[in-house]
Amino acid sequence: VRVAVVFGGRNSEHAVSLMGAGSVLEAIDRTKYEVVPIGIARDGRWVLATDNQTYAIESGRLPEVDDSGAALALPSETGSLIALKPGDIPSSLGRVDVVFPVMHGPFGEDGTIQGLLEMAGVRYVGSGVLASAVGMDKAYMKLVLRAAGLPVGPFVVIRDRDWRLDRSRVLKEIEQLGWPVFVKPARAGSSQGISKAHDQESLEAAVEAAREHDPKVLVEAAIVGREIECAVLQSLGDTGPEASLPGEVLVRGEHEFFDFEAKYYPDQMALDAPARIPEAATETLRAMAVRAFEALDCEGLARVDFFYTPSGELIVNEINTMPGFTSLSVAPQLWAVTGLPYADLVDRLIQLALA
Ligand code: DAL
Ligand code: MG
Repeated sequence: VRVAVVFGGRNSEHAVSLMGAGSVLEAIDRTKYEVVPIGIARDGRWVLATDNQTYAIESGRLPEVDDSGAALALPSETGSLIALKPGDIPSSLGRVDVVFPVMHGPFGEDGTIQGLLEMAGVRYVGSGVLASAVGMDKAYMKLVLRAAGLPVGPFVVIRDRDWRLDRSRVLKEIEQLGWPVFVKPARAGSSQGISKAHDQESLEAAVEAAREHDPKVLVEAAIVGREIECAVLQSLGDTGPEASLPGEVLVRGEHEFFDFEAKYYPDQMALDAPARIPEAATETLRAMAVRAFEALDCEGLARVDFFYTPSGELIVNEINTMPGFTSLSVAPQLWAVTGLPYADLVDRLIQLALA
């Protein structure tokens, strides 16, 4: 079985993707799968990557796709990939049986590459076009989750036009949320472009910062609560998705919230799994995670993030259709604690895509 592991991409989670792909390339069973590693450079070019690279943060520097390899033109004929060196006659990489897009954010986790692969007739790991697109856009994600009866926090969407032409109305709406608020690009990940605003003045700067990533911005009421995450995995066979044991994210050091540095730099966070919450809350949370997965029509895997408030309420913060995927990331760790080690998780996802 030939598996193309695709990583990198044209967005702010490029490096995060590489770290995940590095783990997948290391863990994938080479006796079972022939691996074709493909990097998407920051400028969007697809390149055939070398298989022996380590993709990690080294001396504080984030990894990047090395775009000196052979460039690829994609897609070509149904089910296959074409290698194209500049000025060269296209040579076929042959059929691939499945693509594993270890990619996050726009052009990775938002339905675009999924659509490309659908058009090419290639199977792939994870959610399809709709679930990916909805999961990527925090405004639509929350509408869908709420419509499925899941509790989500109050939020205001700022569209580009509203911000430019109708700002005073938008600001009034945001006032209703109370302070502080979280300001987020609607379509981004890994906390890129997110800030916490404590008043009207810091809000404007926060919106501008989010707008660097996306002209559409989400402002959310800050919710006081413990951050509990739960991974969901489709089962092989038709028995419905399963939820992992939940885990609590504990941020260490000086972070105002679970920001990019806390997520990816060493020793800035700890995962306490299984989360130390009452049994009944654990069961409710797992059922809610499955309901969120089904509400978006997810496939393969997802991670659902919750707040557990001091009064025992569970609120869904968000769902990620391609959660951080290094062997030490939250979703893989939660599956390990639940009894599914990383290599088996990788194998299961490929088998699900092939099924
Ligand atoms: N967006 C990052 C990768 C996550 O959700 O884990
Ligand atoms: Mg996310």
